[in-house]
Amino acid sequence: MEFKITNAVMGVRPPVTKPHPGFLHELGEEGMRKLVDEHYELIRNSDIAFLFPVNDEEDFEQAKKNAADFFIQICGGHPYFNDNRGEPRMVGRHAPFRIDQHARKRWLELYAQLLPQLEDKGVKKEYIQSFWNYLDIFSIWMVNTK
Ligand code: HEM
Repeated sequence: MEFKITNAVMGVRPPVTKPHPGFLHELGEEGMRKLVDEHYELIRNSDIAFLFPVNDEEDFEQAKKNAADFFIQICGGHPYFNDNRGEPRMVGRHAPFRIDQHARKRWLELYAQLLPQLEDKGVKKEYIQSFWNYLDIFSIWMVNTK
């Protein structure tokens, strides 16, 4: 597996390939929620914590839920995000937050810390790689600040 971070050019939205459904299939919904939970807990102790609702436990838990709902949906699972939040419109939803290259890089690095251990939980390397490739490229879309 190679967790490479593609250079982001602000305003450029490279075509995105959804993660392989095998990722969710092997990880399971609970596994996905645990992954997102752990990512947010790493964020809490990072230099991008200021972007997230770390001072309000209820909002922070809700943020985890929304993100996990989305990832389950994008991996071919139940459309929880559409059910609970409506159309994804991810770029628009990130617009209120000043996301720069550094924030994207850190956000990705925190996922890179967590993904290797999924192999021990029975998720094939190629599926983990496909999830990473999705995060790497789609996160470029969210960069909205120089
Ligand atoms: C693959 C790329 C990404 C995906 C799929 C994604 C997904 C999401 C989702 C689903 C939400 C919840 C939106 C809602 O329900 O309103 C969210 C919120 C958020 N995301 Fe992302 N995100 C991505 C990249 C990033 C990056 C790179 C950053 C910056 C470091 C970031 C920062 C945030 C912030 C600050 C929120 C709001 C938290 C809150 O108060 O709910 N996201 N993201």
